[in-house]
Amino acid sequence: MLDDAGKPINAHWGSILRYHGVYYWFGGIMEGKTINQHVPLPGVSCYSSRDLYHWKNEGIVMPGEIAGTDLVLPRYPEREKVIYNRRTRKFVMWMHVDTTEYHYARAAVAVSDSPTGPYHYLGSMRPNGSECRDMTVFQDKDGKAYLIFSSEGNATTHIAQLTDDYLKPNGAMARLFIDQWREGPAVFRYGKRYFLINSKCAGWAFSAARFAVAPSMLGPWKELGNPTVGAGSDKTFDSQSSDVLQVAGKRGAFIFLGDRWKPDDLVDSRYIWLPISIQGDKLEIQWRDHWDLSVFK
Ligand code: GAL
Repeated sequence: MLDDAGKPINAHWGSILRYHGVYYWFGGIMEGKTINQHVPLPGVSCYSSRDLYHWKNEGIVMPGEIAGTDLVLPRYPEREKVIYNRRTRKFVMWMHVDTTEYHYARAAVAVSDSPTGPYHYLGSMRPNGSECRDMTVFQDKDGKAYLIFSSEGNATTHIAQLTDDYLKPNGAMARLFIDQWREGPAVFRYGKRYFLINSKCAGWAFSAARFAVAPSMLGPWKELGNPTVGAGSDKTFDSQSSDVLQVAGKRGAFIFLGDRWKPDDLVDSRYIWLPISIQGDKLEIQWRDHWDLSVFK
C-alpha cells in the first residue's frame, strides 16, 4: 500500500485507532538491510486517513531508541498499539520490547497528548509478573482496557485488565489457549460478543489463524477454529494477524489486518486487509483479489 506521496506505507504490525473521524495507523518502521531475519526498527510511524483509502504520513511519533531508558539497542519495540483514554485525555501506546533473542519479553507504555505524538516513553514491565511477547490492546465500550499477550514462553495467552489510566495491569487477568503456542493476537467486539483472532507461534512463517469468542474479555473463551476459508486458509493467505479494524458508520463492518512478512527482506513486507463476515459466533474471512468498502452494507 502506498501513502499520499506514493511511498510504501512503513508501519508493520499495524494497528488502527479512530479518533474524531480520523483513522490513525500506527506501526513499526523497518529500514535497511535484513540480516539473519532481523532489520533495524528506527521508530514508530503514524499515517492518518479519513476514508481508509488515502493515507498521509504523519512521521515518526516515537523513536526506536530513547536514551536513559531500557529502550536502547539491543532492545527495540514491536507491535505498537494505541488507545485513547477519555479520562486522562492521553493517547496510550503499548508495545512489546525485546532483543533479537526474545528473552527480555516485556511490555512497555508511552503516552502523548496528540494522536500523532510525540509519545513519551514511560518504561517497560512484566505485566502481572509474566513474560510478554506478541501483544495487542483492546478498549471496551465501558472504558475498560485490556492487554492481550503471549506469555509463559509463548505457550499461553494472558489477558490483563488495565488500570483506569491504562498505564499498568490492575491485577484482574485470564489465562487462555493453555499450551497452544499462539501469537499475533487481534481483538474486537461486535454487539455482546468479543472475538480474538491469532496465529500460531511460527516466527515470520505463516500459519493457520484461529479464533475464539467470549461473552466478556476475561472469558470464558470458546475456541471455534480457523476463521479463514478456501485456498490459502492453512497459512492465513500468507499473512499473520496484527489487528482488526472497525469501519465507522457501517454495522458489523470489520477488517482483518495481516502482515505478509518477507523474512529475508523485511522492509519489503506487505499488508493484507480482508473483510470479516460475522454470523452469530462465527467469523469467516475469504480471500479477495480486489475489494472496497462497498462490500459492507
Ligand atoms: C513472530 C512475531 C513477530 C516477530 C517475529 C520475529 O512470531 O509474531 O512479531 O517477533 O516472530 O521472528
